[in-house]
Order: sequence, then structure tokens, then C-alpha cells
Amino acid sequence: MASTALKAAGLASVVALVVAMLMRSSPQLLDQRLQAVLEGLERFERRHGVGAGTRVAVGYGACNDLFADAAEFFDHEAAEPHYSPRLLERRQVIDTFAYFFRHGAAAERYIENASLFDELVDNASGLPGAHFALGGNAPVMASRFVLEGCQVILAAKMTPELQQHLPPDLEVIGGEVTHDDIHLILEYKAGQTWGKFTAPRANRFIVHNDENNPLVKSLEPFGKELSAFEPNLLVVSGLQMMDNYPYATGQREERLQKIKDQMLSVGPKTKIHFEMASFAELDLLEQLTKYIVPFADSLGMNEQELPNLVSMLQYGNVSVISDSNPRVASALDQMRQLFRLLRDKSDAAGQRGVSRLHVHTLAYQAILTTKDSAVKWKNSGGAAAKASLTAHRHVCASPAVDTSRARLLLDDSFAASRLQNSRRVGVDSSEPVACWEEKLPEVVTICVAPVLVCTQAHQTAGAGDNISAAGLVLQI
Ligand SMILES: *[C@@H]1O[C@H](CO)[C@@H](O)[C@H](O)[C@H]1NC(C)=O
Ligand SMILES: *[C@@H]1O[C@H](CO)[C@@H](O)[C@H](O)[C@H]1NC(C)=O
Ligand SMILES: *[C@@H]1O[C@H](CO)[C@@H](O)[C@H](O)[C@H]1NC(C)=O
Ligand SMILES: *[C@@H]1O[C@H](CO)[C@@H](O)[C@H](O)[C@H]1NC(C)=O
Repeated sequence: MASTALKAAGLASVVALVVAMLMRSSPQLLDQRLQAVLEGLERFERRHGVGAGTRVAVGYGACNDLFADAAEFFDHEAAEPHYSPRLLERRQVIDTFAYFFRHGAAAERYIENASLFDELVDNASGLPGAHFALGGNAPVMASRFVLEGCQVILAAKMTPELQQHLPPDLEVIGGEVTHDDIHLILEYKAGQTWGKFTAPRANRFIVHNDENNPLVKSLEPFGKELSAFEPNLLVVSGLQMMDNYPYATGQREERLQKIKDQMLSVGPKTKIHFEMASFAELDLLEQLTKYIVPFADSLGMNEQELPNLVSMLQYGNVSVISDSNPRVASALDQMRQLFRLLRDKSDAAGQRGVSRLHVHTLAYQAILTTKDSAVKWKNSGGAAAKASLTAHRHVCASPAVDTSRARLLLDDSFAASRLQNSRRVGVDSSEPVACWEEKLPEVVTICVAPVLVCTQAHQTAGAGDNISAAGLVLQI
């Protein structure tokens, strides 16, 4: 009796001790895991370098970004979430913002009322913390390639003042303009509240009244230089600036056909990457799947663009809003589906077709490459690691990763597919990048790297571009 009681007491105290230790040490254990993942990713990143003399041509466009805090900008505004296909009045802008904000979804919209847009810009530039910076997908990607030691040309029209914000080694082709197009970027943090809404993740709402970029006016001058430059990689980006713009009938298709011709004009040594963006307009996404997507070797996109593209290719429709934090298994299934859809179409049309997919999400980076295609991509594991580290560095605006400002959203392991009996892939803390092969039926390599999610977001605009370019640079 007594001894049982003693044992029970002893057990209780051991349990209490273990619980106390766990409680005390669990933040420490967590930090150890973060530290191990960080070191593992950095090791992967260092293992691979950028080839000497790598040449990259990046299209299209540039603008002057005005950053402001979204909640502050719309402070004290009552809103009813509503998606307006055209933005003409102040009320439509506010309600459309609410529509995206409550889902934490990125959006980029054209405001056709110029005086309304000027007023928005005036108001935003007066807010504390508001600031201008060089913007557009193409300049961000181009600058990242320069930073990584590549020789780079960029297709864009801009003022000499704006050009001063670019690295001096970057050659801009497209000619000068008298004033730059402004993009107003309203940013918000995860958990930020505005009125009765709370944002589930950090993101931004972008509006513009741009006249050069929707017409891709740098395309022709760029084409004159492209073949002589003989790039290892041609990047097609910035095409969401063609979203919701009042084109004349057939004008957009005409411009897209010209971009397609430019993609077809490069030699077999040039790989072609198309960077997606949030295309709100159904027609544009449909046209892109016809004129651009089938002619790219590589596609980069985020977790919201992926299901939209799959849905467009499969059903010819899209959902504007999708899961902002999908499980790895769902994203990978969608990537497999996208790969099959695109390969089937390109085989039928006799084109070279997609051989690389990079999906960047908040929690992880996933890269799929073909093994035996004519177009070869190397170092997928290193590319996934570098993309992951770039995600943290960019959003935290710091070249060093500080684990006290980082969080892992990925568990110790994940299912490789939602199909029953799919295998589980471990996320080893010291070797955090998981790579394996699959038959789709073509043999592909899939690599997944966890992201050390930045918990104190400084900048989200341009993150996808930096991340995509950082991944590409190790693979060409
Ligand atoms: C354009 O915006 C201005 C300024 O906000 C507003 O007064 C005007 O009514 C708007 N025009 C249209 C067609 O809605
Ligand atoms: C700009 O700010 C003024 C003064 O606060 C306000 O009356 C006006 O509605 C704002 N304009 C827009 C387009 O938000
Ligand atoms: C798209 O079309 C498919 C098939 O017609 C349908 O099942 C699906 O619900 C549609 N999706 C959206 C977002 O409209
Ligand atoms: C992202 O790209 C921009 C433009 O090159 C650069 O200024 C910024 O430092 C980059 N951020 C990171 C973290 O690479």
C-alpha cells in the first residue's frame, strides 16, 4: 500500500518534472529546430554557384511604386466587401479592397478614372511611412539576377531618374519617358484588423493608372537586341499589367501574339521562364494559356496562381480567391496535374513544352523539373533552398536570417499527395530540402524546402519575383 503510494507520488513528481522541463525547454527546442533548418538551407544554398558569364534577358516594364499602409490609408472607412470589375469611383476601390483584404489575397487593379487615381496617390503619399521605390516585376527580377553575378538586359521604358534606382550594370532597353507610371501599393500585415475585418496573412492591394506597361511598349526595341545578346535565360514577366485595361478590340491579343513571337525567336540554348501573377481577369488568363504558357519551359507562381491556372486549363474558368496556405500535398497534386495538362497539350502541338514548375508559398518552396527532356535544369535542391532563404530575407528586409524572427509552418513531415496511401516525406532539420523522383509518366524530380517564415514583415511586394529569380539563377 505504502510503497504503491510512494511509487505514485514518485511517478507524479517525475511527470511534473518532465512537464516542467518540456515547458521550459520547448521554446528552446523550437529554436534549435529553426537553427538547424537554417544551417541546412544555407549549406544547400552554398553548395551551388552561379555559372560565370550567365546572361539573362528580362521583360517587360517598370514603374514607380508608392508604398503605404493599407489600414491607415482606409482608416475609418466603412466597407462592404464587393468585387468591382471596373474601378471608377472611390467607393468601388474601398469595397474591392475589403473583398481581397479579408482573404489576405493579393490583387493588382487598373483604375480607369485618372483624377480619382491622382487623388489616391496624393492622399497616400502624405501618410507617415509612405515612400516611393522602383517597381514592376521585371526590374525586381533583373536586379536580383545582377546581384547574383549575371549579365542582364531589361525591357522597360523609364525616366533617367527612376533608372538611377537600378544597379549600374543593368542595361535598360526600351527608351526614355517623361514621367513614370505610378503603382500604389497598399500593404497590410497578418492579423491586422481594419473595421470588422482581419487579414489572415500579410499581403498587398495594388492599384495603378498605367499607360505604357499594358501595351508592353518596350517589346519592339528589346526584340532588336535579343538575338545578338544570346541569353541563357529569357524571362517573361509583368504581364498582369495587362489586366483590366480598356484595350481596343483585339489589341491585347495582338500584343500577346508579339510576345509569343519574341519567345519563339530565341535559339535552343535560351531557356524561357514565365512568371505568373494574380490575373483577376478571366479573359487575360485564358489568353495567356493560349499565347504564353505553352511556349515557356519554366513557370513560376504562388499558391493562389497555381489553382487558377490549373482550373483555367482544365475547365476554362477560375476562382478569384483560393486557399492562402495550402498543404504541401494539395499543392504538389496541383503541380502534377498542371504538368500533365501542359505536357499533353505541348505533345499534341509538337512544342518543346514545360520542363520546370516553381511554386512559392508562404510555408514552403516546391520545384518540379523533368529529368530527361531536351531542356535541362540543374540543382533543384539548391534552388529550392535559395528560394526559401530569399523569401525570409526579402520579407524581413535583412540579408541575415534571424531565427527569433522566424517560424516554421511546415511540420516534421508531410504527405506527398492527397491520394490514399501516399508516402510521407520527412523534413529533416539538418537536411531540410527533400527531393525525390516520380513518374508522371515522364520522370520528374520534385524538391520541397520549408520557408523560415518572417514574423515581422517589412515588405511583401516583389517577394515572388525575388524568390523566383533566386531559384532560377542556380538552375540555368
Ligand atoms: C472620377 O473620380 C472623381 C474624383 O474622385 C469623381 O469626382 C468622379 O465622379 C469620378 N468619375 C466617374 C466617371 O466615376
Ligand atoms: C483624400 O483625402 C481627402 C481628405 O481627407 C478626402 O476627403 C478624400 O475623399 C480622399 N480621396 C480619396 C480618393 O480617397
Ligand atoms: C468551373 O467549371 C467546372 C466544370 O464546369 C465546375 O465544376 C467548377 O465549379 C467551376 N469553378 C468555378 C470557380 O466556377
Ligand atoms: C529583392 O529585390 C530587390 C530588387 O533587386 C532588392 O532591392 C532587394 O534587396 C531584394 N531583396 C532580397 C531579400 O533579395
